[in-house]
Amino acid sequence: MYDANTHSVHSIRLALAGACAGLVLAVLVQSAPSASVSGLVRDANGPVASATVRVKATANATTTDADGRFALADLEPNKPVVLTAWAEGYYIGGGQTEYLPGASDVDIMLSAHNDQDNANYAWLSAFASAGYPGSGEDGNCEHCHADPNDAQVSLPFDEWRGDAHALSAENPRFLTMYTGTDTAGSQSSPTQYFQTRDYGRIPLRPDPNESYFGPGYKLDFPETAGNCAACHTPAAAIDAAYETDPTTVTGVGAEGAACDFCHKVWDVRLDPASGLPYPNMPGVLSFEFRRPPEGHQFFAGPLDDVAPGEDTYSPIQRQSQYCAPCHFGVFWDTVVYNSFGEWLHSPYSDPQTGRSCQDCHMPSGRTDHFARFDKGGVLRDPTTIFSHRMPGAADEQLLQNAVSMDVKAVREGERLAVTVTITNDQTGHHVPTDSPLRHLILLVAATDGRGRRLKQLDGPVVPEWGGVGDPNQGFYAGLPGKAFAKVLEEHWTELSPSGAYWNPTRVLSDNRLAAFEVDTSSCVFAQTTEGEAIVDVTLLFRRAFIKLMAQKSWQSPDIVMEHERITIGGSPVPNAGLQER
Ligand code: HEC
Ligand code: HEC
Ligand code: HEC
Ligand code: HEC
Ligand code: HEC
Repeated sequence: MYDANTHSVHSIRLALAGACAGLVLAVLVQSAPSASVSGLVRDANGPVASATVRVKATANATTTDADGRFALADLEPNKPVVLTAWAEGYYIGGGQTEYLPGASDVDIMLSAHNDQDNANYAWLSAFASAGYPGSGEDGNCEHCHADPNDAQVSLPFDEWRGDAHALSAENPRFLTMYTGTDTAGSQSSPTQYFQTRDYGRIPLRPDPNESYFGPGYKLDFPETAGNCAACHTPAAAIDAAYETDPTTVTGVGAEGAACDFCHKVWDVRLDPASGLPYPNMPGVLSFEFRRPPEGHQFFAGPLDDVAPGEDTYSPIQRQSQYCAPCHFGVFWDTVVYNSFGEWLHSPYSDPQTGRSCQDCHMPSGRTDHFARFDKGGVLRDPTTIFSHRMPGAADEQLLQNAVSMDVKAVREGERLAVTVTITNDQTGHHVPTDSPLRHLILLVAATDGRGRRLKQLDGPVVPEWGGVGDPNQGFYAGLPGKAFAKVLEEHWTELSPSGAYWNPTRVLSDNRLAAFEVDTSSCVFAQTTEGEAIVDVTLLFRRAFIKLMAQKSWQSPDIVMEHERITIGGSPVPNAGLQER
């Protein structure tokens, strides 16, 4: 229960009988308690039909009938219960009074929440600690959704502050791609153009005689802000998707995909024909928000029994569609970000047998409460509480549980044949997905007993953009193996692989692994029939192209997703004997 004096944020509805503090034990006791309670859910105008009524923090729930009446059975005799009620368009009601089983005149009053968005609403900062802009307010989420004694308890604030959403406005990789600088601030020259009679102004490749710090939106479009802020700094861009320069955001805007922002989402607007966001409506433009009017609050969440307070339940919070506006992005005519579309077109979107983005990236079960107990937190079933860690491209554990790899090595006379099968059996979209900077590098190394590399006779090699140089420094071009990526090529300059997708690009190739897709590659090496051979197969996740990382001075070590070593015995094997594993 909230302390109404200090926590106006989920402010208690005055309509709730004025009982602002403490639970009121209802005096409605019947002599022979049947283990059920019944009553009425209404609003100022009368009964509310189809409201969900729940014994708070339990799975015991029912729905009101056309007259707004309900009965909840299966209660333990003599054990008082707290009830909540929710219906679409209303804050969650109830939550204040305890009823003994047998009570038959429960009366829960609902208050409608705003059905319009209020652009004048001032965001609440997540941060309570002094020094953060926007801190110092009772409503700062950290007051109640963090554990000051143990950040490992996994309350939303403690998890969110380390996740990519919280850091999106200050992510140096994003910012340096926006500004066209490296991390030290050195900037590439603005893009040069030449005039053609047929096509007008055409951009030139960067001058090879000048220092180059990689591409940047601002090098190509110095006059405009672009659409980047619509997804990367959405709280700042909510009312100005194309006019917000992400390098200038301040206050809660700098909190990236912020708590208050995400929990003001009421719905998403998708194209009913495709199920996808409209291509020209990135990020904030495809959401419907419910920022509350002055004097009120509004938090939408996945639970329908958070009361009292100005909270409501929104089914979209549990659906992949919630993530769609930012995890699908079209630039010019090229689909650049598409984890949502890939998911939608995979078996994972089956409502019965599939899994949502939240199932994998916000798994439940990590904690049994999500607000501090001394601030109104309630002990709950851990399966009803979802994590905000949002593991992604930097998470070793997630990446090591994304695909399966199977390696077979067979000696056939003087040849050693290595077959690698990679199956995307655990990822709800392509691997890798979203940012086209991401790629996988498969390295198939075969050495003899003395550590000398065996000569490759047949099979694929890592492409040039795997890096030309010392393999010990991560430059793998030409080595046996391959890479998986969606490779974009810029029109006009024909540069590829390009991360400058704010320019017109086309998909040169895309061999990423769709959900449940299997990829097989075979490399053949020369080997004498005698002596040991060691086969080392490694699948790496690389966050960005190595050349780009060098231009920008990004530090982002490769992550080993899979590794397997096979030793083929040392004794001479006549007649192409088969030896596996
Ligand atoms: C990128 C959007 C996003 C951000 C940022 C975000 N949330 Fe959430 N939050 C969600 C979604 C989606 C759910 C529901 C997940 C589900 O039901 O599968 C959720 C669930 C919750 C819940 C319900 C309990 C639980 O954990 O399941 C609380 C409380 C909550 N968030 C608070 C916060 C706070 C506080 C912050 C910031 C510290 C925050 N959220 C940041 C999207 C977000
Ligand atoms: C439709 C939403 C959307 C828009 C618009 C958008 N981005 Fe992104 N961006 C994302 C998402 C989502 C990710 C994370 C993808 C991933 O991890 O694979 C991302 C990742 C990135 C990354 C990789 C960051 C890293 O740490 O590796 C860069 C760089 C980036 N975006 C730059 C930009 C720039 C520059 C613009 C504007 C020209 C832009 N983005 C516009 C959604 C968007
Ligand atoms: C004064 C304490 C307090 C503050 C400050 C606070 N919350 Fe909460 N919040 C709670 C409590 C308590 C609950 C309900 C706990 C329960 O029932 O288990 C809750 C529930 C929620 C829910 C769940 C709603 C639902 O129906 O699923 C969301 C979402 C949420 N808070 C978001 C936020 C965000 C975002 C902020 C910061 C902008 C914030 N809260 C600040 C105490 C607080
Ligand atoms: C079945 C589990 C599963 C589902 C469902 C799922 N993901 Fe993932 N996701 C993963 C795994 C595993 C990875 C790591 C492999 C990779 O990067 O592709 C990942 C990676 C990511 C990344 C980081 C990508 C990168 O390579 O930089 C983003 C962003 C992401 N997922 C977003 C989403 C969104 C949005 C949805 C829903 C539309 C979703 N995921 C659904 C398992 C899942
Ligand atoms: C308001 C836009 C927005 C919404 C809504 C949103 N995301 Fe994101 N998400 C981003 C951006 C931007 C990034 C990249 C941040 C960065 O790397 O700087 C990102 C990053 C991620 C990553 C981490 C990728 C990495 O490389 O580490 C995952 C996983 C992810 N999002 C999943 C989700 C899921 C699941 C949902 C829905 C519950 C969701 N996102 C909703 C904008 C959003």
